[in-house]
Amino acid sequence: MAEHEGRRRPAALDGEPNDPARARERRVEGERELWRRQPRVERALHDPRVRREQAGGRRIVVRVQRAAPGADDRGGRGRGRSGDHRCELYVYASTVDFELAPQQREIQELAREFAAREIEPNAAEWDREHRFPRDVFARLAELGLMGTCIPEEYGGAGADFLSYILVLEELSRADAGVGVTVAVHTSAVTLPLLAFGTDEQRSRFVPPLARGEHLGAFALTEAEAGSDAGALRTRAEPDGDGWRITGAKQWITNGRYAGTFLLFARTDQETPGARGVSAFVLDADHVSVTRDEEKLGLNSSTTNDIVVEGALVGRDRLLGEEGHGFRIAMATLDGGRIGIAAQAVGIAQAAYDVAREYAKERHAFGRPISEFQAIQHKLANMATEIDAARLLTYRAATLRERGEPHTEAGAKAKLFASEMARRQTGEAIQILGGYGYTKEFPVERYYRDAKITEIYEGTSEIQRLVIARSILGLQEPRVAARRA
Ligand code: CAA
Repeated sequence: MAEHEGRRRPAALDGEPNDPARARERRVEGERELWRRQPRVERALHDPRVRREQAGGRRIVVRVQRAAPGADDRGGRGRGRSGDHRCELYVYASTVDFELAPQQREIQELAREFAAREIEPNAAEWDREHRFPRDVFARLAELGLMGTCIPEEYGGAGADFLSYILVLEELSRADAGVGVTVAVHTSAVTLPLLAFGTDEQRSRFVPPLARGEHLGAFALTEAEAGSDAGALRTRAEPDGDGWRITGAKQWITNGRYAGTFLLFARTDQETPGARGVSAFVLDADHVSVTRDEEKLGLNSSTTNDIVVEGALVGRDRLLGEEGHGFRIAMATLDGGRIGIAAQAVGIAQAAYDVAREYAKERHAFGRPISEFQAIQHKLANMATEIDAARLLTYRAATLRERGEPHTEAGAKAKLFASEMARRQTGEAIQILGGYGYTKEFPVERYYRDAKITEIYEGTSEIQRLVIARSILGLQEPRVAARRA
């Protein structure tokens, strides 16, 4: 799935090593503009003036603008003049490319090995004891995986967004609680700080998060503001040169262990709803944790009620413009939902792995149960739906990486992947029968963990609303990507 790379000039043509850190730097505005100015790839490929070459698995299109009739197309390297002809060399990714780039595979492998060695063997115990595995995040930080897609200059690993999604999938396959901790930390806190922060805010707040020195928490939800997030009541009232913030938030992932909170509060008390909300960056000192939530699953993650009691913050703590906080929250969730889709894919994959092995081993009526059509159909459905969810998720991640609108694609990925994960973890239990219902096998944990993916970062009902608005053109298209 090197699709996201393809619309850029390949590193080889620029004479640069093709490493993910450089890849981010190369995605400059100009290149995107260049792509947009060109005819659509389908047209170009049928254009007789266009010569195709294959280079390193990528399709190269050389567009030759003839300077004089009869001139032949000798092509060229990069843009510029070649003999009499102005030659422009573009790389069109095949619109669909299902191969991961070598660097993405490397990161995926790194996360997979770490998860298999350090997370998966402990996941049942953490679940049983409701233990938040703090050490794991320190070790993930050493590998750069607490800031996978954060540029190196800000303390991250400098990989692309899809690499980060691959990491979330692998972590969640081992333990979905670890997956959500990293997801909220990265896409709900570090990335919006990077996207909406001033230079000063970026260099102050992002590196400690990207290096995993402390965790981030996203504080939007309140007792009476869940799906209707715009109904939030936490107040930020002018005080001196800043604000005094007071309010209570609930279901805050990472709340107990977070060092940085991205918190949403109403700065305009006269305006109800989404407008009049602003985003603030708070420290752990500004926040008190009042409760640990007991949950159906995700027991290795922490979910808390928090209160902020008259915390005085200066203007340096306002993220983005005053009154634009809701848009920041929505743009953040556009990307965050892709992470939850990846989490759901990881959980479902884990359930499928167990069910498939079990079906081959378990005998009934003198045969392995995998020889019965009833079981074969279940496994076939699982494999197919996991594939479909994964493709939706990678597509949304690719769009986001390219800086293209991804609100609808992310909502579709989350909607399908989460419902698929709930359905298919249930099927995994069914294949294991009585064993599946016990703690002897992990599938009951996967089933409990999968359920939340249909709820947080926007319920399935909200995803359908977002998709419907988009496909029916009920709102202007959200170009969240430009801001995220
Ligand atoms: N990107 C940028 N801006 C956006 C946007 C987007 N995707 N969607 C909406 N906006 C902007 C709108 O342009 C509008 O801006 P203006 O006021 O300047 O015009 C503003 O946001 C309000 O938009 P809407 O009128 O669409 O707002 P709404 O009140 O109708 O609500 C909603 C829309 C989609 C229902 C939204 O409230 C929503 O997504 N709700 C679900 C909340 C949610 O997902 N919570 C998750 C909590 S965090 C979590 O779960 C983390 C965890 O622990 C894992």
